[in-house]
Order: sequence, then C-alpha cells, then structure tokens
Amino acid sequence: MTAILYGVPAPGLAEVPAGAVQVSPLILGSQDLAVLADASVDRAVVLAPGGAIERDYVLAQALRVLKPGAPLLAFAPKDKGGSRLKKTLEGFGCRVGEDARKHHRFCHLARPEAPTGLAEAIAAGAPRLSPALGVWTQPGVFSWDRLDAGSGKLIELLPPLAGRGADLGCGVGLLAQRVLAAPAVTELTCVDVDRRAVDCARHNLDDPRATVIWGDVRRVDGLADLDFVVMNPPFHDGGTEDRNLGVAFVEIAARLLRKGGICWLVANRHLPYEASLASAFTAFEVRHDGGGYKVIEARR
Ligand SMILES: C[S@@+](CC[C@H](N)C(=O)[O-])C[C@H]1O[C@@H](n2cnc3c(N)ncnc32)[C@H](O)[C@@H]1O
Repeated sequence: MTAILYGVPAPGLAEVPAGAVQVSPLILGSQDLAVLADASVDRAVVLAPGGAIERDYVLAQALRVLKPGAPLLAFAPKDKGGSRLKKTLEGFGCRVGEDARKHHRFCHLARPEAPTGLAEAIAAGAPRLSPALGVWTQPGVFSWDRLDAGSGKLIELLPPLAGRGADLGCGVGLLAQRVLAAPAVTELTCVDVDRRAVDCARHNLDDPRATVIWGDVRRVDGLADLDFVVMNPPFHDGGTEDRNLGVAFVEIAARLLRKGGICWLVANRHLPYEASLASAFTAFEVRHDGGGYKVIEARR
C-alpha cells in the first residue's frame, strides 16, 4: 500500500498524498489499520485522536504498518494531545522533528528499523471484554470504560418495548441490550458511525433479532414504520459540539416511526431539543430531569 491517512485534516493543514487510504474508524468505508500487514505502507499521515490510550494505539499501529525508513507525519491540536505527540513518538524509539502552526503540533519522522513498545500500546488500545461493563469495548468509543450517566438513566427508565425498532447511535450496544431483554421486541436495527463501536456491538448483541449497521444515521435507508426508537443522540461531530447533529437525530427518529410510534431518548439538560421534538412529534413528556440529564418519551 502506498500511503495511509488517519482522520480528516482541515484544508491546508497538512499535505495528504494523492490516493492515500483512509484508516480512521469514524470514516465510513475506511480500512481497519489493525488488519494491515506489518511494514507494508510507504507513507502515513495521522491526525492523531484526542484520547491518550487511543492516540498511542493509532500511532503504534501506524509505525507497525510503515516500512522501515518510511515517513510519518503525525499532528494534533496543541490542546488535544498535540503537545504530547513528540514524547509519545520518542517513547517508541523515533527521532522526531517538531513544528507548530495553526494551533497544531506537527511531528515528522522516519520509521525506525526497530521501534520499541508498539505491542504494548497496541494491546492497551485494542478491543477487549470489560469486566466492569460486561461487554466488548475499545478505548476511543463513546464512554468506553464506564456506563454513561445519561444512558444509565435511560436504561433504568425504559419500559419493555415491543415490535420493530431502532437504536440510533448505538455505541457498543448497552442500550440495545436492555431493549432486547423485552421478549416482545421482534427486530432491532442498531446504527453507529464508529466502526469500533459497531464491531463491539456485533459481539455484544448476539441475538437473531438484532442487526448492527456501520452507517451514518442521517443517510440510513430501508427503515420505516418502526414501533419504537431509542437513542442517546450525539452532539459532537469531529470533536466539536454540534447541536444540529442531535436535532437531526430527533427529526430522523420521527421520520422512521409509524404514526403512534414511540421514541425514548436521553439528552444533556443544556441541549435544546424541545422545539424539534414539538415540531416532529405529536406529543412528548419529560420522564426524568435531574443529574444533568433529561429522559424524554415522544409519540409520533
Ligand atoms: C452519546 S453516544 C451514545 C452511545 C450508546 N447509545 C450509549 O448510550 O452508550 C452517541 C453515539 O452516536 C454515534 N454517532 C455520532 N454521529 C453519528 C452519526 N452521524 N450516525 C450514526 N452514529 C453516530 C457515536 O459514535 C456514539 O457512539
């Protein structure tokens, strides 16, 4: 393989080789870095993710797949791990050149003949069965090592559902597991844009009624006339708050439901979904408001 690219750098931020293969799990259709062969890639450009374990994993994977002597450009916003890149890469035995511009740190290096510590970083960031959560998870996916408080509240309040439904932005599938505990549920389609979450959810939802799709909820088709939707909608896109994303989830949930179908969702209190709920649904009730979360039941 000639070149790989991890992430989507802003225009003009970094030179991306023509034809570079995308390897970020957040980009639909991307390749999985973990399955690329050792020393098989000529060049890598990595917009490193913000989480420390995830970042070390991605950098270690990039070094693993690069041929000895091949160039790596790794960069990140200074306040989102950029200032730690150089030290991390030096820890892998690399000689690193660094520069800074546009609030980012850029590290340039040639992959050493024998990098050190890659296996440990890859093991630390790999998918694993979490004893605490009792499910497969991976550093970097939403709330990877603990139950999100909002999702926990929704799980607690969710009544047994029935019929055909969807979990929009399913993560590793904790909410979906709860839905599938109801015997009257006949079908559950779970959608998430993060391939790592989808891979974990496929392990975690070993149930013939569940289908897990790697997809963008805003572009999913083939779903209609559902009896229910559950969701903890995202409000970050590419690391920055994007309330429109949550609003889009609310509108799509309404579109997917049959008349009279029910949507259960949880949202951070500060997110103003009420106007969208009022226009997309016939009625909605706040079932819980506390601890920074609102749990809402809406009827189409
Ligand atoms: C707040 S988390 C909820 C995860 C899970 N339902 C839970 O409760 O633990 C939102 C999820 O939506 C996913 N997501 C973000 N944008 C998406 C999109 N456009 N289409 C599908 N999933 C998306 C994220 O990857 C994340 O897993």
